Amino acid sequence: METLSDGVITLDRWRPGDLDDLVATVSGSLEHIGAWLIWASSGYGPEEGTEFLTGTAERWASGEGFEYGIFDTDGTLAGGCGLMRRDEGREIGYWLAEPFTGRGLATRATALLLTEAWRLGAPHVDILHDELNTKSGAIPARLGFTLHRKEAASDAIAPACSGNDFVWRLLRPEAAGD
Ligand SMILES: CC(C)(COP(=O)(O)OP(=O)(O)OC[C@H]1O[C@@H](n2cnc3c(N)ncnc32)[C@H](O)[C@@H]1OP(=O)(O)O)[C@@H](O)C(=O)NCCC(=O)NCCS
Repeated sequence: METLSDGVITLDRWRPGDLDDLVATVSGSLEHIGAWLIWASSGYGPEEGTEFLTGTAERWASGEGFEYGIFDTDGTLAGGCGLMRRDEGREIGYWLAEPFTGRGLATRATALLLTEAWRLGAPHVDILHDELNTKSGAIPARLGFTLHRKEAASDAIAPACSGNDFVWRLLRPEAAGD
């Protein structure tokens, strides 16, 4: 679904018109986001934003991934999140601009994406984060995921990362039906 909401936040599929807000939001929290996410670790401008928005439209069309802006109650862009296909399961990722942290918005976004994952028939959902990124790990822990495995990061790592990933997994609840 292109829009998901819990009455506090709204996840809206990224659109080309989000470019200016996306670039301003990421570049305004560059150190906070870039410490942990390689795509924001060496600057973020219109070129990077355009590349992302083009890529996300392709991933949506192919079914590879559904990526959304996270909008606060008043409609302000607070961050981004995605539900990506990974083998037979799905994987959730997220980021918030620094002023929007500490209020549970990423946990809310993840809960909305979980409901979408079950609706799409996913057998399980994973969340990966660097072992040092405790704020990120608190989200799957809060939502009932269990630590599934530890592994070496497969991609280039952002500056604050150790290179060791924790992989959390939540199995499809029986109540989700088939
Ligand atoms: C990872 C990241 C999204 C976590 O942000 P966050 O604000 O800690 O997460 P949430 O929005 O779920 O908020 C949780 C905090 O709000 C508090 N909170 C308040 N109301 C809440 C609610 N209704 N539900 C859940 N938490 C709530 C929690 O206690 C927690 O605070 P604490 O960290 O002081 O314990 C953020 O740190 C970030 O964007 N980091 C940079 C990018 C990144 O690392 N992305 C993940 C890569 S794997």
